Amino acid sequence: MDTRPYRSALYIPGSKPRALEKAMSLAVDAIIFDLEDAVAPDEKANARGVLVQALQDNDYGARSLMVRINGFDTAWAEDDLDAIAAARPEAVLLPKVNSAADVQALAARLDARPETAGTKIWCMMETPLAMLNAGEIAGASDRMAGFVMGTNDLAKELGSRHRADRLPMLTGLGLCVLAAKAHGIVVLDGVYNAFKDEDGLRAECIQGRDMGFDGKTLIHPAQLPVANAEFAPSDAEIDLAKRHIAAFEQAEAEGQGVAVVDGKIVENLHVVTAQAVLAQAKAIETLNESIQ
Ligand code: COA
Ligand code: MG
Repeated sequence: MDTRPYRSALYIPGSKPRALEKAMSLAVDAIIFDLEDAVAPDEKANARGVLVQALQDNDYGARSLMVRINGFDTAWAEDDLDAIAAARPEAVLLPKVNSAADVQALAARLDARPETAGTKIWCMMETPLAMLNAGEIAGASDRMAGFVMGTNDLAKELGSRHRADRLPMLTGLGLCVLAAKAHGIVVLDGVYNAFKDEDGLRAECIQGRDMGFDGKTLIHPAQLPVANAEFAPSDAEIDLAKRHIAAFEQAEAEGQGVAVVDGKIVENLHVVTAQAVLAQAKAIETLNESIQ
C-alpha cells in the first residue's frame, strides 16, 4: 500500500495553467488534475494539451498525482487517454465506475501502451451500483490504488438531501471504507462544496477522519490548512503513540502481555496502531521536504 500522506487532495481544472502552476507552491499532499466535470465541453480538447504540458514541465515533488479522465460513456475518454499517455501519468482516476469490469476495461487500455505500463487506477465511487460493488471494484486489478468518493453525484443519484451530519451518505461511505481497507487501497472522502465555510469543512474532515478515510478531496486552496491539520496526527496523538510503544516494550521485558497507559489497556494491536501514527507523521515530514 502507498504510504505517502493523503490528507489533502486538490482538484485542479486541467484547463487552467495558472492553477496548475500555483499547485507547485501549495501545501497539498495529492493532486487530481481534472479533465472531467471541472472542464466545459468546448474546453476539453484544449485542456488535454494544457495539462500534458504542465505534467511534463512542472515539478510536483513526491506528491501523489492523478488525472481524472472523462468516463467511457462519453465521447472524450479515449482521446483523454491518448493525450495523457505522453506524460506517463502516475495514476488515472476513472469516473462513474460501477463494477470490476469497468476497472478491467481501463486496465486493458493501459496495458496496450508502453507509456502507461506502470500507471495506477483510482476509481470515483459515486453511483449506487458502485457502493454495492465496492468490494469487487477495490480488488478488480493489481493497478487499483484508491477510491475517491464522489458525494455530489451520489447525492444526486440517491435523491438525498444535504445534511450537516451526512446521515444519508453514511451507508455508502462506510461500504467504500470497508472495501478499501479490505483490499489495502487508499480511500479519500468527497468534497465540501461551500469552500468559504471553514467550520463546516472542519466538521466534515473530522467525521471522515474518524470513519477511517485517509484524507479529503478539496476544490479550493483555502481548504488545504483545515484538511492538512485534521488528517494529520496531533501532537497529543504522537505523544500517546510513543507512550504506548514504550509502555508495551517495558511490559514485555517484564514478561507481561499487556500494559496500562492512562488507565487503559495497551495490547500488541495498539502498538501496531501507534507505529502507524508515527509512520504517518514521518511520511508527512518526508513529503514536506520534497515540496519545499
Ligand atoms: N487549484 C489550484 N489553484 C486554485 C484552485 C484550485 N482548485 N482554485 C483556485 N485556485 C487559485 C486561483 O488560481 C487563484 O490564484 P491566484 O490568486 O494566484 O491567481 C487563487 O487560488 C484564488 O482563487 P479564487 O479567486 O478564490 O477562486 P476562483 O473564483 O478563481 O475559483 C473555483 C473558484 C471554485 C471555480 C475554483 O476554485 C475551482 O475551479 N475549483 C476546482 C473545481 C473542480 O475541480 N471541480 C471538480 C471536482 S468537484
Ligand atoms: Mg462526479
